[in-house]
Amino acid sequence: NWKMNQSIKSSIDFVKENYNDLLELTKKSSIIICPSFPAIPFVLQEIQKSDLDIGGQTCSPFEQGPYTGQVSASMLSEAGCSFCIVGHSEQRAFLKQNDDDVSLQAEQIFKEKLIPILCIGETLKERNEKKVKKIIEKQLLGICNFLKKTKNTESPICIAYEPVWAIGTGKIASNKEIEEAIEFIDTFLKKYKIKNYALMYGGSINSSNVKKIKKIKKIDGFLIGNASLDFQELKKIVLS
Ligand code: PGA
Repeated sequence: NWKMNQSIKSSIDFVKENYNDLLELTKKSSIIICPSFPAIPFVLQEIQKSDLDIGGQTCSPFEQGPYTGQVSASMLSEAGCSFCIVGHSEQRAFLKQNDDDVSLQAEQIFKEKLIPILCIGETLKERNEKKVKKIIEKQLLGICNFLKKTKNTESPICIAYEPVWAIGTGKIASNKEIEEAIEFIDTFLKKYKIKNYALMYGGSINSSNVKKIKKIKKIDGFLIGNASLDFQELKKIVLS
């Protein structure tokens, strides 16, 4: 997740300069790059023949219409994305997105047959108030109900557990904290008979702490922000 960090030029340079290494990494792991909207077609052009995937960082809860500044899921699909992040805490915080907005966005993503990377997680205040499970449940409920109601429980979805207090702070959740949250998410999804999901962790992942978190058996992958801007760092994370 490059967030609002790379220019279009540095996004292109990143994939161009590290292309062969990126190809090697895709033999080991699925890699989804989420650039800024304007960089998407340029990055895509560079990686067309590879197994790398591209994702949007968010999308509109609406299909189309007079929503200035919004980008629809169908536009992302047309641009060549196969994934889209949804419910990132930075979007929830800055744009005041609530769980209903996030569910509507996810519905648009499913409709376009893109794979949502749904971000969920508690703030420090919520953790201190022992509300972690309650918050996670609230953040999953709308989407699980939608999948159940529309009989889409086989649609692929990635769930990224990202404690808000661990994002971009250098503070990382302990394995026990992550395990508890991941177990809860896993059980919740199973209760809704959601079948095709990947569980991820995000929040201050880097090459020094990733080995420890990889020990958690149910973690399938990572949502990496800051460390993904440095290719050598990203390479070490994938290879550790
Ligand atoms: P970070 O960001 O790795 O910089 O903490 C993670 C994210 O926001 O998804």
